[in-house]
Amino acid sequence: MRNPLKDTTLELLRRGYHFMDWQRAESGDPGAPARVRLRLLGTPALLVRGEAGVRLFYDTSAVKREGALPPLISGGLFGSGSVHGLDDEEHRARKALFIRAAMDDAAVAALLRDAEAEWNSHLDEVWLPGRTGSVYDAAVEVYGRSILRWAGVETDHETATRIAHDEAAIVDGFGVVGPAFLRSKWKRKTCDAWFTDVIRRARAGEIEPRPSSAFDLVLQHRDADGSALDDHTAAVELQNVIRPTIAVARYAAFLALAFHRHPEWRTRVAEEVAERGTPIDGEVAFAVADEVRRYYPFVPLLPGVARRDLKHEGAQVAEGERILIDVYGTTHDERHWDQPDAFDPTRFLGTGEMFAGYFIPQGGGTAETGHRCPGEKITAGLLALTAGVLAGLRATLPRQDLTYRMGRMPTMPRGGVVLSDVSRR
Ligand code: HEM
Repeated sequence: MRNPLKDTTLELLRRGYHFMDWQRAESGDPGAPARVRLRLLGTPALLVRGEAGVRLFYDTSAVKREGALPPLISGGLFGSGSVHGLDDEEHRARKALFIRAAMDDAAVAALLRDAEAEWNSHLDEVWLPGRTGSVYDAAVEVYGRSILRWAGVETDHETATRIAHDEAAIVDGFGVVGPAFLRSKWKRKTCDAWFTDVIRRARAGEIEPRPSSAFDLVLQHRDADGSALDDHTAAVELQNVIRPTIAVARYAAFLALAFHRHPEWRTRVAEEVAERGTPIDGEVAFAVADEVRRYYPFVPLLPGVARRDLKHEGAQVAEGERILIDVYGTTHDERHWDQPDAFDPTRFLGTGEMFAGYFIPQGGGTAETGHRCPGEKITAGLLALTAGVLAGLRATLPRQDLTYRMGRMPTMPRGGVVLSDVSRR
């Protein structure tokens, strides 16, 4: 049996997405399916899972974010001073920026139309003329160029492509022990510098962002105390719309893998696209996208800090101790999901399951009142579009390693799923 007083931070880095199951198995605690006591990042913590755990974690009167993540991780991934680590009134005021920037239906629809055009250009210029390339790289570039344009950051094709790969590298290395982590840190520096310069030039009147674009909203934003964002924080928050949209490319790679392993779903999406005449917003494509977000690993867990002494499912947490929600474990919790280890988009077809309190690939609660991701419409929309585009292709998968390491956070199929001999069906 595991010693609950022994710090398990290194085990988390080593075991990745398997860490939480390992903790539960090792604890010898009968309450372990719902929660387990452990020691992480030098302090005692409670790891919770499932719908009740989600409710606790997203109860803002019980759990706060300040001090939850070590600056080494949060500064690298989200940028220093970002919305992710704010609480209460400060959080509400800053979050309003993202709700306006990312959750408007008409604006999301415009992004999807632009991304569809970008996919078509990519097909015409890269895959159809016979070049071999990975779905991941293609999606990084397609999403990257679209989101930059959509956010009001105008730049040339080459620069947009470079920024897209740099932002993707920030995500790729944030939780890895090794060179990818250093690369992530370095790219964070170069991207912060590039975006800070863009913000400064706009404030100096040298560039004028499109009205109501994310860039414009960041410049107009006022925090709870009435102050504008300083140049660095403005650059960080503008990237907090752009970088995670590019990170949807990781799901695109998993989607290609899912189509390879479950060709019946590729056929169903292709039929839907043929019937509707568009790859955007198809119901089957959304079900596939949601199952990709549920089934494949991306966010492992999220940390918060107890605001007061608490009791959860028979376990005590003292004020100041960490509470962690097991995101991956909740989307695979056998108490909520029928055959959680089977890839089956049917569970999302006409069932309303996407609104369930235990479907939390991008956080729980509501985006408007808590820390839930404001980018779910963009993520699911882009993925469903990508399902429509990929389903319309004939392609060969050359010999390659399609496995993904569960000990790496974040993970994805090693080569990003390489396609060759691509043609339209
Ligand atoms: C790859 C797809 C994505 C995944 C897996 C993802 C996941 C998450 C998760 C787990 C959180 C934290 C929730 C919490 O702290 O409780 C979050 C927050 C956030 N996400 Fe996403 N996200 C994705 C895409 C996006 C997109 C497309 C945007 C663009 C707007 C976005 C913007 C944000 C922001 C600004 C926050 C901070 C919210 C807050 O602290 O209130 N994300 N995301």
